[in-house]
Amino acid sequence: MQHQSQLSVSEPLEAALKAGEREHPRAAALARELLGRAGSVFRQQLRFLLEQRPEFWPHAERLTRAVQQLGNDPAECLIEYTVTTIKEQLRFLHSGSYGHDDFDAVLAQVYANPEVMKGFYLDGLLLSYAYWPSQLDLYRFFRGELLPRLPAHGLGAEVGFGHGLYLLDILSAQPGLRAQGFDISEHSLSYAARLLAQQGIGAERFQLSLADVRAGFPVHDHSYDWFVFAEILEHIPDPEGALREVRRLVKPGAPVFLTTVMNSNAMDHLYLYTELSQIEAQVSAAGLEIEARQVLRVADYTRDSRDPSSTVALIARPRG
Ligand SMILES: C[S@@+](CC[C@H](N)C(=O)[O-])C[C@H]1O[C@@H](n2cnc3c(N)ncnc32)[C@H](O)[C@@H]1O
Repeated sequence: MQHQSQLSVSEPLEAALKAGEREHPRAAALARELLGRAGSVFRQQLRFLLEQRPEFWPHAERLTRAVQQLGNDPAECLIEYTVTTIKEQLRFLHSGSYGHDDFDAVLAQVYANPEVMKGFYLDGLLLSYAYWPSQLDLYRFFRGELLPRLPAHGLGAEVGFGHGLYLLDILSAQPGLRAQGFDISEHSLSYAARLLAQQGIGAERFQLSLADVRAGFPVHDHSYDWFVFAEILEHIPDPEGALREVRRLVKPGAPVFLTTVMNSNAMDHLYLYTELSQIEAQVSAAGLEIEARQVLRVADYTRDSRDPSSTVALIARPRG
């Protein structure tokens, strides 16, 4: 009986993997390895991606190739990143709190720690944009809502760029754009610089610097034609102050891509949002007007899940 139910899960998956593997061999090999090594974690989500998201294949192939070319083992990094995040989420579901309230401790344990950042965090997070359904849909929102709003020329910025995928795709989509990136982690800086160079973005088009958003930026008001502030609000103690700083930095009419999470823990989440209204109120109080939004609930992708974890993606522009 058990054998039969296992077959009923694996047969369609096997057929889907076979169908995709000729054109997307790296993605198929990684999917097989995930199923072999951590099937209970990945089976349901891979099945969803293979059945419901045709863009999974080319996107997963591209990100898997990028991670391999940067020298890391994609399966190792993605499993470690995913399992670490699940453990943190279980802790949150048990306690009702993220359990990290000291930014400097997170800085030492995570952003300044090569074993974490170079070991699995940056590659794992990058790969999650293909191999986690909610992250793939977040990426879809980014492509569908931010890229068409970008100007053809000018200078933009991303704060907390991490792996650098958003910078890469923005600079690839609009050859007339230049970018500045700021991040507190030297490991993010070197990873993103390598990713952009490896993918053929000319060094004259981007400048990456170490900076701490808590201290503000030594940049004139209204410097940027577009702005990305993704997965950073939940990492800092004062997201409202940071949003006001974003508002100060952007030119009138500049599109701002913002993402954050609700009820969703990770090893470096500090600030807990429980409702969309809290996020929207902070964005609005900073002087930004929301013009597109998507809420991605993990439970919507997982049968029988009561996990309250959600990701929120917004496009906003400065008001007035
Ligand atoms: C979860 S990653 C987000 C990466 C990418 N933006 C994304 O959405 O996938 C968070 C990044 O923010 C950086 N970061 C955290 N606190 C920061 C701070 N106070 N100032 C600047 N960067 C910070 C970290 O080093 C890390 O690279």
